[in-house]
Order: sequence, then C-alpha cells, then structure tokens
Amino acid sequence: MNEKVRVLISEEEVESRICEMGKEISEYYQGESVHLVSVLKGGVFFTCELAKRLTVPVSIDFMSVSSYGNDTKSSGVVKVIKDLDEAIEGKNVLVVEDIVDSGRTLSYLLENLKSRKPKSLRLCTLLDKPDRRVTDVHVDYTGFAIPDEFVVGYGLDYMQQYRNLPYVGVVEL
Ligand code: IMP
Ligand code: MG
Repeated sequence: MNEKVRVLISEEEVESRICEMGKEISEYYQGESVHLVSVLKGGVFFTCELAKRLTVPVSIDFMSVSSYGNDTKSSGVVKVIKDLDEAIEGKNVLVVEDIVDSGRTLSYLLENLKSRKPKSLRLCTLLDKPDRRVTDVHVDYTGFAIPDEFVVGYGLDYMQQYRNLPYVGVVEL
C-alpha cells in the first residue's frame, strides 16, 4: 500500500456528529422502537456508534448488496448478497449506510424494503456526496455532506483496506 490518507473529518468530529444524530433520531422515534438495517460492510462501524447513542429500544439486522459490480454502473441493477434475517413488516426501519454516492444502491434498497411493508422507512447516512447523485434518494439524516473525493475510514474501504481507520480520510494515490 503506497497510498497516503489525508484526514478529512477527524475522529472527534465524526464522534460528536454521531452523538448529535443519535439525539435527533431518538427524539424522532420517542415512544417507539427502531429497527436498524445496517448495510454491509461499510455501514457497520457507523451503525455501532450510532446505536450506542440511541435512547429508544433498538434492534439491528444486516443486509449486503452489490453496488459496484460489472453491470451495476450501466444498468443500475443491484444484487442482494445477504438478505435480512428477520421480517420488517410493521417495524420502524432505519437504514444505516456509510455513504450515498450515485444513489443507485440506496434507491434499489429502499424500494426493496418498502415492498416488505415496514411501519416506517427512513434513511440515515454518515456521508453524502450530493454532487455525484444520479438517482434521486431522500436522505432523512446526513452526518456530513462531502465533496466528490474518494474517501476511506469509518467503514469505507479502498480495495478492502482502511475500513478500520477511526476517521474519514481522502486517499492520495
Ligand atoms: P451508490 O450506489 O453509488 O450510492 O454507491 C454507494 C456505495 O459505493 C457505498 O455504499 C460505498 O460502498 C461505495 N462508495 C461510494 N463512494 C465511496 C468512497 O468515496 N469511498 C469508498 N466507497 C465508496
Ligand atoms: Mg456501502
């Protein structure tokens, strides 16, 4: 690995923002419980930190979808690699994702989940690159809107590396 990683959002900034998001989300679901659908693999780090900041009852499930496959970019077809373990019918589902980029993955995922009749369905992402959007996606909670740069850390990878960085950084090749 010869790449350098420049810090874009420090560990302290990420964590204090997640704290704020936790408060906002807890207020929204006051008196209800929330079922987190964490998108593997990148969404896991954010999901864990966010879940710790929620004060309403929380359950968690995981789903894995392919986003950058061979035909994905052109066709917008997304493949489910690992489905949820439990049904979501009647639940307040909050999808927790690392980043919304083109929006293709999320728009597919949200449609897919919607068809399973949850009580409510919302989307929470740590990072958003609005300039890159190809498919319209309604994001309910965004940690940080970032410029169009390739980022790693806090779950995000470059060739499966750097997910474990405690901050968000830009890879300089
Ligand atoms: P979308 O379907 O284009 O929105 O793709 C979203 C997925 O692409 C994310 O869940 C990430 O796995 C990946 N991705 C998009 N931008 C980045 C980035 O800057 N760094 C690492 N992964 C990214
Ligand atoms: Mg992802």
